[in-house]
Amino acid sequence: MRLELRDVWHVYAPGNGFELPALRGVSLTVEDGEVLGVVGGTGSGKSTLVQHMNLLLAPTSGAVFVDGVDAGTLRKSELRRRVGLVFQFPEQGLFAPTVEEDVSYAPRQLGLAGDEVRGRVRGALESLDAAHLARRAPYTLSGGEKRRVAIAGVLAMSPEVLVLDEPTAGLDPVSRERLLELVTGLRSAGTSVVLVSHDLDEVAEVADRVCVLEEGRVRSIGDPAEVFYADPEVAPATVRVVAALGNICPGLGRPVRFGTTLQALRGLLEARG
Ligand SMILES: Nc1ncnc2c1ncn2[C@@H]1O[C@H](COP(=O)(O)OP(=O)(O)OP(=O)(O)O)[C@@H](O)[C@H]1O
Ligand SMILES: [Mg+2]
Repeated sequence: MRLELRDVWHVYAPGNGFELPALRGVSLTVEDGEVLGVVGGTGSGKSTLVQHMNLLLAPTSGAVFVDGVDAGTLRKSELRRRVGLVFQFPEQGLFAPTVEEDVSYAPRQLGLAGDEVRGRVRGALESLDAAHLARRAPYTLSGGEKRRVAIAGVLAMSPEVLVLDEPTAGLDPVSRERLLELVTGLRSAGTSVVLVSHDLDEVAEVADRVCVLEEGRVRSIGDPAEVFYADPEVAPATVRVVAALGNICPGLGRPVRFGTTLQALRGLLEARG
């Protein structure tokens, strides 16, 4: 699926005299099967932006298109099945008596057969390393376990676009790594992923394109190397290192991922004997 936001503005609480637009004319696309990283400072509008992707928030002006069709003309239930949104701190929204029931809630609403629902729930929990938690009560889980279960609940709907708002915030490094593997695995299976994150290093690892938001506007969007090397002071550590060494070590290129950066540095050191 291809999602497009065209000149989207969003004003919270319009008309009370204190309104401040949280989004000011955002235009961007989420291409079929890509991972789009969304970064930007606190309050820059990331969460507001992603809630427009399934029209949980309606644009004050502008529009959202799904494969060229105005999303406002689609049924809300259909749109929310196709564009799965995982909120920032989704663990606060777990409500059912058991994990299994919580994760099966959304697929049940789709009217699927019992076997199909059970299969999806098992698959979603397995892909989040949470199958062993199925019978537990959500309130007995650790923070990271709850987070994984909440993500499984959205994944069980088999969305075509999965939107994750700061999914790795507060997770330990291993859980974070596993979550990033899930993101790249989904991409391999053809699902688009929108990954909102404050962690530029993780965005560097998995994003096909990066969008930088600033005060409700798109400051830049595109290939991670182009975006990050244009602005190395707000770039992942890999880019900052290469940009800082660029003067004395020309020929490093513009690596972004950890592996390719290491390879570039190793190649240079080996060439120097
Ligand atoms: N429900 C709301 N009512 C009024 N203003 C809001 C509401 N939600 C967000 N805002 C304001 O909109 C702006 C953008 O907020 P948003 O939550 O989208 O930012 P963010 O980039 O996701 O920030 P963070 O990185 O802290 O999660 C902020 O100025 C915020 O105060
Ligand atoms: Mg946010």
